[in-house]
Amino acid sequence: MSLTKIAPSILAANFSNLEAEINMVNKSQASWLHVDVMDGNFVPNISFGTPIIEAINKHAKKPLDIHLMIHEPVRYIEKFVELKAEIITVHIEACSNLPQTIKKIKSFNTKAGVAINPETDVSKLNDIVDLIDLVCIMSVNPGFSGQKFIEKTYERLEKIKSIVGNNTLIEIDGGLNNINAKILSEMGANVLVFGNYIFKSKNPLEIISELNKNIN
Ligand code: DX5
Ligand code: ZN
Repeated sequence: MSLTKIAPSILAANFSNLEAEINMVNKSQASWLHVDVMDGNFVPNISFGTPIIEAINKHAKKPLDIHLMIHEPVRYIEKFVELKAEIITVHIEACSNLPQTIKKIKSFNTKAGVAINPETDVSKLNDIVDLIDLVCIMSVNPGFSGQKFIEKTYERLEKIKSIVGNNTLIEIDGGLNNINAKILSEMGANVLVFGNYIFKSKNPLEIISELNKNIN
Protein backbone atom coordinates (compact mmCIF):
# COMPACT_ATOMS: atom_id res chain seq x y z
CA MET A 1 0.00 0.00 0.00
CA SER A 2 1.33 3.43 -0.87
CA LEU A 3 2.12 5.93 1.89
CA THR A 4 -0.25 8.71 2.89
CA LYS A 5 1.11 11.99 1.56
CA ILE A 6 1.50 15.03 3.83
CA ALA A 7 0.77 18.37 2.15
CA PRO A 8 1.56 21.45 4.31
CA SER A 9 -0.70 24.38 3.38
CA ILE A 10 1.37 27.51 2.84
CA LEU A 11 -1.64 29.72 3.70
CA ALA A 12 -0.86 29.19 7.39
CA ALA A 13 2.84 30.08 6.98
CA ASN A 14 4.53 33.29 8.05
CA PHE A 15 4.48 35.32 4.83
CA SER A 16 7.08 37.79 6.06
CA ASN A 17 9.50 34.87 6.05
CA LEU A 18 8.20 32.84 3.14
CA GLU A 19 11.59 31.63 1.91
CA ALA A 20 12.44 30.10 5.30
CA GLU A 21 8.99 28.50 5.55
CA ILE A 22 9.40 26.90 2.11
CA ASN A 23 12.92 25.72 2.94
CA MET A 24 11.50 24.02 6.03
CA VAL A 25 9.01 22.15 3.82
CA ASN A 26 11.82 21.29 1.37
CA LYS A 27 13.81 19.67 4.18
CA SER A 28 10.81 17.82 5.58
CA GLN A 29 9.19 14.48 4.79
CA ALA A 30 6.18 16.25 3.26
CA SER A 31 5.28 15.07 -0.26
CA TRP A 32 3.50 18.12 -1.72
CA LEU A 33 3.18 21.83 -0.98
CA HIS A 34 -0.52 22.81 -0.84
CA VAL A 35 -1.28 26.28 -2.23
CA ASP A 36 -4.69 27.84 -1.47
CA VAL A 37 -5.87 30.45 -3.96
CA MET A 38 -9.01 32.38 -2.86
CA ASP A 39 -10.85 35.01 -4.87
CA GLY A 40 -13.11 36.74 -2.30
CA ASN A 41 -16.06 35.68 -4.47
CA PHE A 42 -16.39 31.89 -4.40
CA VAL A 43 -15.15 32.08 -0.80
CA PRO A 44 -15.38 35.09 1.54
CA ASN A 45 -11.60 35.53 1.75
CA ILE A 46 -8.81 36.67 -0.58
CA SER A 47 -5.48 34.86 -0.16
CA PHE A 48 -2.91 35.50 -2.90
CA GLY A 49 -2.45 35.18 -6.63
CA THR A 50 0.14 34.33 -9.22
CA PRO A 51 2.98 36.73 -8.15
CA ILE A 52 3.17 35.02 -4.76
CA ILE A 53 3.11 31.57 -6.38
CA GLU A 54 5.96 32.66 -8.67
CA ALA A 55 7.91 33.58 -5.52
CA ILE A 56 7.02 30.21 -3.95
CA ASN A 57 8.20 28.50 -7.11
CA LYS A 58 11.64 30.06 -6.86
CA HIS A 59 12.30 28.12 -3.65
CA ALA A 60 9.94 25.15 -3.55
CA LYS A 61 11.39 21.71 -4.24
CA LYS A 62 8.16 19.82 -3.53
CA PRO A 63 5.47 19.51 -6.20
CA LEU A 64 2.78 22.21 -5.94
CA ASP A 65 -0.75 21.07 -5.14
CA ILE A 66 -2.79 24.10 -6.21
CA HIS A 67 -6.27 24.37 -4.67
CA LEU A 68 -8.33 26.95 -6.57
CA MET A 69 -11.17 28.41 -4.51
CA ILE A 70 -12.19 30.71 -7.34
CA HIS A 71 -15.33 31.20 -9.38
CA GLU A 72 -15.10 29.77 -12.95
CA PRO A 73 -11.43 28.70 -12.67
CA VAL A 74 -11.49 27.64 -16.34
CA ARG A 75 -10.50 31.28 -17.08
CA TYR A 76 -7.13 30.89 -15.33
CA ILE A 77 -5.96 27.32 -16.00
CA GLU A 78 -3.07 28.33 -18.34
CA LYS A 79 -1.71 30.72 -15.70
CA PHE A 80 -1.52 27.96 -13.07
CA VAL A 81 -0.10 25.44 -15.54
CA GLU A 82 2.71 27.93 -16.25
CA LEU A 83 3.42 27.96 -12.52
CA LYS A 84 4.41 24.29 -12.80
CA ALA A 85 1.52 22.89 -10.79
CA GLU A 86 1.75 19.13 -10.21
CA ILE A 87 -1.99 19.11 -9.73
CA ILE A 88 -4.72 21.72 -10.12
CA THR A 89 -7.87 21.23 -8.06
CA VAL A 90 -11.08 23.12 -8.83
CA HIS A 91 -14.33 23.22 -6.88
CA ILE A 92 -17.31 21.25 -8.13
CA GLU A 93 -19.51 24.16 -6.91
CA ALA A 94 -17.51 26.84 -8.77
CA CYS A 95 -17.65 25.52 -12.35
CA SER A 96 -20.61 25.93 -14.70
CA ASN A 97 -19.02 23.35 -17.02
CA LEU A 98 -16.99 20.98 -14.84
CA PRO A 99 -16.05 18.39 -17.53
CA GLN A 100 -14.76 21.19 -19.79
CA THR A 101 -12.71 22.67 -16.91
CA ILE A 102 -11.18 19.28 -16.05
CA LYS A 103 -10.42 18.55 -19.71
CA LYS A 104 -8.68 21.90 -20.02
CA ILE A 105 -6.37 21.05 -17.08
CA LYS A 106 -5.66 17.59 -18.54
CA SER A 107 -4.96 19.05 -21.99
CA PHE A 108 -1.72 20.46 -20.54
CA ASN A 109 -0.77 17.05 -19.11
CA THR A 110 -1.35 18.39 -15.61
CA LYS A 111 -3.19 16.27 -13.04
CA ALA A 112 -6.74 17.40 -12.28
CA GLY A 113 -8.53 17.34 -8.94
CA VAL A 114 -12.04 18.23 -7.88
CA ALA A 115 -12.80 19.62 -4.40
CA ILE A 116 -16.18 19.11 -2.79
CA ASN A 117 -17.61 21.23 0.03
CA PRO A 118 -19.00 19.67 3.25
CA GLU A 119 -22.64 20.30 2.24
CA THR A 120 -22.42 19.26 -1.42
CA ASP A 121 -24.16 16.05 -2.51
CA VAL A 122 -21.46 13.41 -3.11
CA SER A 123 -23.43 11.87 -5.99
CA LYS A 124 -22.33 14.91 -8.08
CA LEU A 125 -18.99 13.11 -8.41
CA ASN A 126 -20.50 10.23 -10.37
CA ASP A 127 -20.46 12.07 -13.71
CA ILE A 128 -16.82 13.17 -13.63
CA VAL A 129 -15.09 10.43 -11.68
CA ASP A 130 -13.51 8.91 -14.79
CA LEU A 131 -11.93 12.24 -15.74
CA ILE A 132 -10.07 13.12 -12.55
CA ASP A 133 -6.90 12.13 -10.66
CA LEU A 134 -7.93 13.36 -7.20
CA VAL A 135 -10.97 14.24 -5.08
CA CYS A 136 -10.37 16.78 -2.32
CA ILE A 137 -12.92 16.32 0.46
CA MET A 138 -13.30 19.60 2.31
CA SER A 139 -13.42 18.95 6.05
CA VAL A 140 -14.13 22.64 6.79
CA ASN A 141 -16.07 25.24 4.81
CA PRO A 142 -13.41 26.67 2.50
CA GLY A 143 -12.09 30.18 3.03
CA PHE A 144 -9.87 30.15 6.10
CA SER A 145 -7.20 28.07 7.76
CA GLY A 146 -7.45 27.27 11.47
CA GLN A 147 -11.09 26.08 11.48
CA LYS A 148 -12.53 23.10 13.35
CA PHE A 149 -12.66 19.72 11.59
CA ILE A 150 -16.20 18.67 10.61
CA GLU A 151 -16.78 15.16 12.04
CA LYS A 152 -19.14 13.98 9.32
CA THR A 153 -16.11 13.95 7.01
CA TYR A 154 -15.46 10.32 8.06
CA GLU A 155 -18.85 9.26 6.69
CA ARG A 156 -18.32 11.28 3.51
CA LEU A 157 -14.91 9.67 3.00
CA GLU A 158 -16.52 6.20 3.06
CA LYS A 159 -19.21 7.23 0.58
CA ILE A 160 -16.78 8.99 -1.75
CA LYS A 161 -14.35 6.06 -1.67
CA SER A 162 -17.11 3.78 -2.88
CA ILE A 163 -17.85 6.20 -5.76
CA VAL A 164 -14.29 6.83 -6.96
CA GLY A 165 -12.67 3.43 -6.40
CA ASN A 166 -8.93 2.87 -6.12
CA ASN A 167 -7.56 4.78 -9.10
CA THR A 168 -8.39 8.26 -7.78
CA LEU A 169 -6.43 9.84 -4.93
CA ILE A 170 -8.46 11.09 -1.98
CA GLU A 171 -7.26 14.23 -0.25
CA ILE A 172 -8.72 15.68 2.95
CA ASP A 173 -8.41 19.41 3.60
CA GLY A 174 -9.13 21.46 6.73
CA GLY A 175 -8.80 21.21 10.50
CA LEU A 176 -6.46 18.22 10.51
CA ASN A 177 -4.23 17.19 13.42
CA ASN A 178 -2.35 14.02 14.46
CA ILE A 179 -5.53 12.38 15.83
CA ASN A 180 -8.03 12.81 12.98
CA ALA A 181 -5.19 12.32 10.45
CA LYS A 182 -4.46 8.83 11.76
CA ILE A 183 -8.10 7.80 11.50
CA LEU A 184 -8.44 9.27 7.99
CA SER A 185 -5.29 7.57 6.77
CA GLU A 186 -6.44 4.22 8.18
CA MET A 187 -9.75 4.76 6.38
CA GLY A 188 -7.89 5.11 3.07
CA ALA A 189 -7.22 8.84 2.56
CA ASN A 190 -4.14 9.32 0.34
CA VAL A 191 -3.23 12.98 0.86
CA LEU A 192 -3.68 15.01 4.05
CA VAL A 193 -3.43 18.81 4.10
CA PHE A 194 -2.22 20.56 7.27
CA GLY A 195 -2.13 24.34 7.76
CA ASN A 196 -2.11 25.50 11.37
CA TYR A 197 -1.13 22.14 12.83
CA ILE A 198 2.24 22.38 11.08
CA PHE A 199 2.98 26.08 10.63
CA LYS A 200 1.74 27.36 13.98
CA SER A 201 3.66 24.70 15.91
CA LYS A 202 6.96 25.36 17.71
CA ASN A 203 8.85 22.82 15.63
CA PRO A 204 7.19 22.25 12.23
CA LEU A 205 9.92 19.88 11.01
CA GLU A 206 9.47 17.63 14.01
CA ILE A 207 5.67 17.77 13.68
CA ILE A 208 5.92 16.60 10.05
CA SER A 209 8.27 13.81 11.02
CA GLU A 210 5.94 12.66 13.85
CA LEU A 211 2.93 12.87 11.55
CA ASN A 212 4.75 10.79 8.97
CA LYS A 213 5.46 8.06 11.54
CA ASN A 214 1.96 8.24 12.96
CA ILE A 215 0.00 7.99 9.70
CA ASN A 216 2.20 5.56 7.80
C1 DX5 B 1 -9.31 26.07 3.64
C2 DX5 B 1 -8.04 25.68 2.92
C3 DX5 B 1 -7.16 24.73 3.69
C4 DX5 B 1 -6.55 25.36 4.93
C5 DX5 B 1 -5.97 24.30 5.83
O1 DX5 B 1 -10.10 26.82 2.81
O2 DX5 B 1 -8.37 25.03 1.70
O3 DX5 B 1 -6.14 24.19 2.86
O4 DX5 B 1 -5.56 26.29 4.60
O5 DX5 B 1 -5.58 24.89 7.05
P1 DX5 B 1 -5.91 24.21 8.46
O6 DX5 B 1 -5.23 22.88 8.47
O7 DX5 B 1 -5.35 25.18 9.45
O8 DX5 B 1 -7.41 24.06 8.55
ZN1 ZN C 1 -6.79 23.90 0.58
